[in-house]
This record gives sequence, structure tokens and C-alpha cells, in this order.
Amino acid sequence: MNPSHVTRHPSLPFVFVNMAMTADGKIATANRAVSSFGSTRDHKHLLELRATADAVMAGARTVDSAAINLGPGPARFRRQRLDNGLMEYNLRIIVSGNGSLNPAAEVFKHRFSPIIILTTSRASKTRLRQLRALANEVKVCGQQEINFCEAFCWLRGKWGVKRLLCEGGGGLNDALFRAGLVDELHLTICPKIFGGHNAPAIADGKGFRRLARALPLQIKSFKRVRNEVFAVFRRVTQR
Ligand SMILES: NC(=O)c1ccc[n+]([C@@H]2O[C@H](COP(=O)([O-])OP(=O)(O)OC[C@H]3O[C@@H](n4cnc5c(N)ncnc54)[C@H](OP(=O)(O)O)[C@@H]3O)[C@@H](O)[C@H]2O)c1
Repeated sequence: MNPSHVTRHPSLPFVFVNMAMTADGKIATANRAVSSFGSTRDHKHLLELRATADAVMAGARTVDSAAINLGPGPARFRRQRLDNGLMEYNLRIIVSGNGSLNPAAEVFKHRFSPIIILTTSRASKTRLRQLRALANEVKVCGQQEINFCEAFCWLRGKWGVKRLLCEGGGGLNDALFRAGLVDELHLTICPKIFGGHNAPAIADGKGFRRLARALPLQIKSFKRVRNEVFAVFRRVTQR
């Protein structure tokens, strides 16, 4: 399953990001009311990718704002997972630096597989207690920002995560890009314009400040299906 062209540190999982974006590069409307806008083909694509991953990860504002459970979906995708030699249900990982997760979020209503929360020392004791009631494990990795290198090594060692699918949002993606931990970026380009200065994009957060620092990618594949484009970019540098 793993592409052979990328040399990875053996203790890190293969990390791939999957996002749908508009033609103007937005992943939600500026008021964040709309974040699901791909076709049914795109939704199937998302479940097919999940069926190749040991774990699916998302940021706090993504799980707070949408009715998502980060699970494998219908039985045929769970069968695909078993055929791929994976557990029937993927692990679910949620990232929150200060522990500000909504306990009523949809993801916590589904107990089909373990939920792991990655957080930092910024989360208060009270918040940590609340998170431990919601998740199977809460891991503090870092002081201000999550140290994803440490977190991913831990995920691989303790939870056996070899393939990790990140489903955004832009804040989390940016942290992973800046840490140099993303092996592939899967993008569905949808024929719409959302516009809006404040509409979230694929990689928000701090970003790279100089061209020389920008993350270089190569196009791995590029395919039109009806009125959408499915593109895969891969990292250029090797770990
Ligand atoms: N179109 C798509 O494919 C797609 C996919 C996913 C999401 N979306 C949309 O994108 C929007 C959410 O994106 P977003 O960028 O606002 O939020 P996000 O990336 O989902 O979550 C950001 C939060 O994650 C935590 N976090 C991220 N990086 C961190 C780091 N390095 N260290 C510690 N904590 C970190 C922080 O949580 P705390 O604040 O709790 O510390 C941060 O506020 C929503 O509108 C969602 O619907 C669209």
C-alpha cells in the first residue's frame, strides 16, 4: 500500500492529507456554514482513502463544526479495510492545543473505535479531566504547540499507526506542513468560488514566510472525473 518512492523515518507513519477545495482554494465559506461541497464521488474517494489508513485525524475546529465521526463508513469500506490488512474500524485522532473541544461534538457520540486526543501543556487540569472522559487516551505532546514528530512516533509505537490520514482543517494542515511531516496531499478541486478574505484554506495558521522556505511538492497524479479534479501531490524532499 505504501508508495515506494518516499523514504520515511522508520518510526514515523506515512502521513497523507485529504481535502476538498473550491477553485479559489477555500475549504469552507467565510462564515464556516458550508464545509461539505464535494460530489458523491468525492465522498466515496474520502471513504476509499480512509480504507487505507490505520488512523484518521482532524483538528479541534473541524470536529467541533461538522457532524462527522471520522469512521470508515458503510460495510463495503470496512471490508476494503480488512482486505487491506487493517482493523475493521480506524482509530480516530483529534488535535487540540488547549483542550477546547466541544464534548457534544458528533465524533464523541460514536464509540466504534478508540479516540485519541493530542494536546499540549496549555490544557488545564480541568480540561484534561474532561478530555479523558471523552477519549480512550489523551496524550500531552509539547508545551505551546503539539510536537507532531514526537506524537506520531508515539502513535506508531503505542497504537501501531503506520498510515495516518489527516482531514484538516487548515490550521492543523499548516502545522503538519511546517513540521515537514506530510508525505502526500490529496486534493479534490470543486468547480465553485467561495471567496471571502476569512474563508479557511488548505493551510492556514502561520505558513511559510519566504519562497525559499515554501514546501516543494511534485504532482503524482491528476485526474478529471466529471466536473471535479482529483489531484495527488507528494513531498519532494526525503526524511
Ligand atoms: N473542505 C474540506 O475538505 C475541509 C476539511 C476539514 C475542515 N474543513 C473546514 O475547515 C474549518 C476548520 O479549519 P481550522 O483551520 O479553523 O481548524 P482545524 O485545523 O480543524 O483545528 C484547529 C485547531 O486544532 C488545534 N491545533 C492545530 N494545530 C495545532 C498545533 N500545532 N498545536 C496545538 N494545537 C493545534 C488547535 O486547537 P485548540 O484551539 O483547541 O488549541 C486549533 O485551534 C472548518 O470550517 C471545517 O469545516 C474543510
